[in-house]
Amino acid sequence: MNLIQESLRDNGRILVIDDDISARESLRMVLKDRYEVVLASDAQQGLAYLQEESFDLVILDIKMPGMDGITTLKEIKKLSPETEVMLLTAYASLETARDAVRYGAFDYLMKPFDKDDLLNTVRKGLEKKFQSHTSKVEQEHLRIRASLLEEQIARAKSDLIAAFEGTINALLLAIDAKDSYTNAHSRRVSELTCAIARSLGLGSSVIEGLKHASLIHDIGKIGIDERILRKQGSLSIEEYEIMKKHPEIGVTIVSAVPFLEEAIPVILHHHERYDGRGYPRGLKGKDIPLSARIVAVADAIDAMLRSRPYRGNLPEELIKKELMDNAGTQFDPLVVEVVLSEKFSII
Ligand SMILES: [Fe+2]
Repeated sequence: MNLIQESLRDNGRILVIDDDISARESLRMVLKDRYEVVLASDAQQGLAYLQEESFDLVILDIKMPGMDGITTLKEIKKLSPETEVMLLTAYASLETARDAVRYGAFDYLMKPFDKDDLLNTVRKGLEKKFQSHTSKVEQEHLRIRASLLEEQIARAKSDLIAAFEGTINALLLAIDAKDSYTNAHSRRVSELTCAIARSLGLGSSVIEGLKHASLIHDIGKIGIDERILRKQGSLSIEEYEIMKKHPEIGVTIVSAVPFLEEAIPVILHHHERYDGRGYPRGLKGKDIPLSARIVAVADAIDAMLRSRPYRGNLPEELIKKELMDNAGTQFDPLVVEVVLSEKFSII
């Protein structure tokens, strides 16, 4: 292919299908200077060309012996949906030509045609073809861009989760270095909290948040003197007052980490009592966040289950009785009811 042919190809490739040789030739004469033109004398030959090569535009005579224009149009659209089709029609077939637009022809031209009308209509068809091609390319670019963004978001999300869990583990290790009981206790409280939350029918994202919050509910103990934390036997009044500061110390610690903010209600309020006699705020009943009311019960169960320096293990029946006796005073009665149900195992 020489340079002239190449530039013709760039402007558009046109297939003319018309049984009338004089019509074919006059079309070729008008179009040949601007476009690459291929001539076919009937529908079969035209369709055969379309199977072999690609064309931007087909100029199709609507009334030909053999296959009629509408059937040919449908076949062209099946073979090459992106190729634009313009119909040539005599006055007698005008209605048919108008119908053909419904089957995908972009326009029609009456015979005998005016040279400028033909060139204008052909240009319109080619512009439509190239625009639709451009918009398909743009759509493909957008699709690729969207899938790249989705990948980036998924990666950022998994990095964030890793950072989140890494931070929680670091905090737990910090407390473990000071008081290994608190670390192990926190992990068990977290398991119990999740089990209670599931029994209450809470959603999975709420449960996931509770899992992390309960893991670090006692993080403020980092700021409590080790001699008080590890003391064998009961605490003095002064020591107990110091111990009671751990919820607020915990809030100070996690406030520095934006993605741990959701854990603050649990950290601050897990020692509130349902009757309002707890600490640090003395909140009452439903004023205490549900998350903290759940962790308070889980915290108490684990404290009773495990041997403490100042208290031996309590059998499960005694633990249940203790929960029952304190439902509505120390604990949220609804949370206790869930724990006492037959389906729930606290061990
Ligand atoms: Fe605590």
